[in-house]
Amino acid sequence: MLENHVVLVLGGGSGLGRGLVRSFRNEGAEVAVLEVSASKVEELQTEFGDDVLAVQGDVTVIGDLERCRSVLLERFGRLDALVGCVGVFDGNVSLHDTPLDKMPALFDEIFHINVLGNMLATKVFVDLLDQSGGAIVLTTSTAAYAADGGGPTYTASKGAVSSLVNQLGFELAPRIRVNGVAPLTFANSRLRGPAALGMDGWDQSQVPVEDMASAFERLIPLSQMCEPEDYAPVYAFLASRHNKIMTGQSVIADQGMFNRALMSA
Ligand SMILES: NC(=O)c1ccc[n+]([C@@H]2O[C@H](COP(=O)([O-])OP(=O)(O)OC[C@H]3O[C@@H](n4cnc5c(N)ncnc54)[C@H](O)[C@@H]3O)[C@@H](O)[C@H]2O)c1
Repeated sequence: MLENHVVLVLGGGSGLGRGLVRSFRNEGAEVAVLEVSASKVEELQTEFGDDVLAVQGDVTVIGDLERCRSVLLERFGRLDALVGCVGVFDGNVSLHDTPLDKMPALFDEIFHINVLGNMLATKVFVDLLDQSGGAIVLTTSTAAYAADGGGPTYTASKGAVSSLVNQLGFELAPRIRVNGVAPLTFANSRLRGPAALGMDGWDQSQVPVEDMASAFERLIPLSQMCEPEDYAPVYAFLASRHNKIMTGQSVIADQGMFNRALMSA
């Protein structure tokens, strides 16, 4: 699917992004990663050696994006797809339970990373994608489409990512195709909580796997909890030149969750 494609994965150090890096390599891509965590960059180097270009940097910092662009161009000379997997969670804290004085900082933290990060990266790499006739694939969430996938700040930020996909799909056509994927909860995530609520020491790997697996068995029609790699074929197609049929859309990959009324549950 990705022979002769150069793909940049934003936030490829763990969870979804890490799984996509593995799968994209298997699909024939040359892969680069921009990742904020230095220890995850080391993990990438240990797993892939020189096969993957791992750049330490923050997707919300223009200088880091520009440095990533220079290193990527030096090594590969072009870019065919930008895949956004960066994210931070709001800790599933409801509006009722969020202290009023913390709301502005919580909003700024979550929207800065989840929304602005994708916009800045698009701006910095758009000319390369225009040259290659490339693709952008952003990660939204089922939380953008149905309640109870997070608190209001995370949910609104994912709704914003879906709307960004709509707008950029329109603005960047016909040269660049822009689509989103809205995953359901998956295994091996290290999605962290918000520093604004003092929850940045928490990440999703601390939720007992058995609890998540049993919720899937009870509630989700395709009842097995998925690995990040299970999402890779959808991302690979949307990132590839094989996709001539979609732009401005998000694929809701919900394992059948939205297709039931829960009456029998
Ligand atoms: N975990 C889930 O169940 C789930 C469900 C639906 C959607 N998502 C979305 O999937 C995406 C990936 O999440 P994940 O669960 O794999 O989490 P994760 O934390 O394991 O992966 C995100 C990666 O992005 C990196 N990152 C965070 N901020 C960054 C920044 N400013 N600059 C560069 N890198 C940064 C993190 O260090 C991490 O390696 C996110 O957008 C998340 O909202 C997750």
